[in-house]
Amino acid sequence: MDLLVARGDLRRFRFDDAPVPEPGPGEARLRISSFALTANNITYAAFGDIMSYWSFFPAEPGWGRIPVWGFATVDASNIEASGVDGLVPGERVYGYFPMSSHLVVTPSRVSDTGFVDAAPHRAALPPVYNRYTRLRTDPALPDQAGDQTPEQTGDQEGYEALLRPLFTTSFLIDDWLDDNETFGATQVVITSASSKTALALAFLLEAFDRCRVVGLTAPGNLAFVEGVGYYDEVVAYGGIDALASDVPTVLVDMAGDGAVLSEVHGHFADHLLHSCRVGATHWEDLNLDGALPGPEPKLFFAPDHIVRRHADWGPGVLEQRAGDALGQFIASARDWLTITEAHGEDAVAAAYLDVLEGRARPDRGYVLSLDRTQ
Ligand SMILES: NC(=O)c1ccc[n+]([C@@H]2O[C@H](COP(=O)([O-])OP(=O)(O)OC[C@H]3O[C@@H](n4cnc5c(N)ncnc54)[C@H](OP(=O)(O)O)[C@@H]3O)[C@@H](O)[C@H]2O)c1
Repeated sequence: MDLLVARGDLRRFRFDDAPVPEPGPGEARLRISSFALTANNITYAAFGDIMSYWSFFPAEPGWGRIPVWGFATVDASNIEASGVDGLVPGERVYGYFPMSSHLVVTPSRVSDTGFVDAAPHRAALPPVYNRYTRLRTDPALPDQAGDQTPEQTGDQEGYEALLRPLFTTSFLIDDWLDDNETFGATQVVITSASSKTALALAFLLEAFDRCRVVGLTAPGNLAFVEGVGYYDEVVAYGGIDALASDVPTVLVDMAGDGAVLSEVHGHFADHLLHSCRVGATHWEDLNLDGALPGPEPKLFFAPDHIVRRHADWGPGVLEQRAGDALGQFIASARDWLTITEAHGEDAVAAAYLDVLEGRARPDRGYVLSLDRTQ
């Protein structure tokens, strides 16, 4: 079962109920038990062509399979037992999937900790997306055991599916800001402050006491963001005049909204020391007319920083540090984030439209499944 989205019109989608795929020689079939859906996945779709997100899980011409992060069980395996521990049916993994019930992968570099999908169409894509983690050996998943079912692991798996990929990005941004001495700024302004990625970054900046942290959000989300308590100050879009304009500031932009970008650049002008583009939650409002005052916005692409840190710190260190910090973030997020689970086509369709249209509540996180065996 696949959710297929029209690449030219994200509001048009359909389900394809194809037969369960059989793994060929060297392949394994994964049954996807749960995946998270947030604005991040909509951004994958909105930038599917220019940033190759449609290339991970190919579909028929004109249609795409949106990538999501989640958990799966090895359902059938045709890989020969490797020297370490071959992937056997029943084993559970975490990684990058389509919004589907199954995915056939070509496991290579199988080790105690995971494997890489060596399917030829994924070879040129950023390696971080091609790696699958075996749950039973991952130190960042202390509550997981490979032979436990989702019911046995409780809602921890939902929080992991939702927050792990987003938090990892925030961890990298925080680390990169620290590495650059926050570009000399004393304040970081984060747009789409109610998003989980923004909240994770605010949590880290506060935890490490790096600088003052200001959130910008929609008026309707203001009270929620203030209530979480991670930001020093929260301001609604259109109200940036409430902030002093002469404070050396870095912008971390999760919204990608032309009007919001103009507002922030226009307000801080030369006191804006760096402008960092991370996301596009406002995916239909990207238009930007004319040049911006202050520095030119620069894209932060997490996979590039991961490669850099793997080289600097050696294998596994980034994962260990980010995993430890994620545990603390999940413990805190339980105070403001509730998991909404939804199974089956109708529920997944409703959740998809909710997230696409920006109607999903910031204090809720969707964890979905198209697996009929559940
Ligand atoms: N570059 C990377 O590697 C990377 C990695 C992870 C995430 N990101 C980016 O970070 C951003 C946040 O992702 P997330 O998954 O954390 O988001 P999320 O938790 O689902 O964010 C929800 C919030 O986003 C805003 N929003 C969402 N859809 C909207 C719409 N259609 N119209 C207007 N506002 C909308 C609203 O916030 P406000 O009212 O506060 O604006 C909403 O409360 C995404 O754009 C994502 O691509 C980038």
